[in-house]
Amino acid sequence: MIELQLSEQMRQWRKQVSLKKVIGLVPTMGALHEGHLSLLKKAREECDVVVVSIFVNPTQFEDSNDWAIYPKTLSQDISLLKTAGVDVAFLPTVDQIYPEGDHFQLTEDSLSRLFCGAHRPGHFRGVLTVVMKLFHLIKPHQAYFGEKDFQQLQLIKGMVEAFFMDIKICPCPTVREADGLALSSRNSQLTLEQRSQAVELHKILQVSPSASSAKSVLSQKGFLVDYVEDYQGRRLGAIRLGKVRLIDNVIL
Ligand code: PAJ
Repeated sequence: MIELQLSEQMRQWRKQVSLKKVIGLVPTMGALHEGHLSLLKKAREECDVVVVSIFVNPTQFEDSNDWAIYPKTLSQDISLLKTAGVDVAFLPTVDQIYPEGDHFQLTEDSLSRLFCGAHRPGHFRGVLTVVMKLFHLIKPHQAYFGEKDFQQLQLIKGMVEAFFMDIKICPCPTVREADGLALSSRNSQLTLEQRSQAVELHKILQVSPSASSAKSVLSQKGFLVDYVEDYQGRRLGAIRLGKVRLIDNVIL
């Protein structure tokens, strides 16, 4: 596996890839788990060359402390990528991705204001900006995103269409723990007690007759609920457990 840190190295690498090869990209923020690995597996099956990026993108965190405490497990991540048969790991620093500072950002003015966007101002601007930068640097033919972050997935699909980008966005189903909790890098920040409570999010989203009843039940159980809303045949929800924010969605 090739490891690249510099944007210029990535551009040079990209220039020499044969035109016949299909390149798949899996963008991540590291702290890799089985959810990420399911994206890699799909990319490995469908593409000739698989590139994974690990970059904890500061512009998508509203709070710099949240960015600082985001779990970082780089050496373990690298071994997982090698085992998964990844060809290139792109591991840039902040300066490599934002050489201009963050003067240029990509704004979406509709869906990004709802749901998670209403509670995390600027979050999706940061996500779309970094994904656009990665797309331009790596120029993949296909890119893989999890349905766990359903709003993010829809926004990225929208961006690709709006800017006529020739990239196929490949959605991947949510990978869960045996009890139903969606895998997330943030789960490692839960205390044991919070971990056992966290499973309720998925259960209640699934069994409640309406979004508003799911919201009331979650609140009654003592969760701080950011939102529960139905959108495009799914029920989306976000709760806070102490300092940890968890999101999930289920198909209706
Ligand atoms: P991150 O949270 O590391 O997630 C990387 C990708 O893995 C995303 O597409 C996410 O939806 C997917 N993923 C996470 N947990 C999953 C699960 N349990 N099942 C299936 N897929 C899962 O999402 C981001 O990073 C960032 O916003 C990023 C797109 C990399 C931009 O910085």
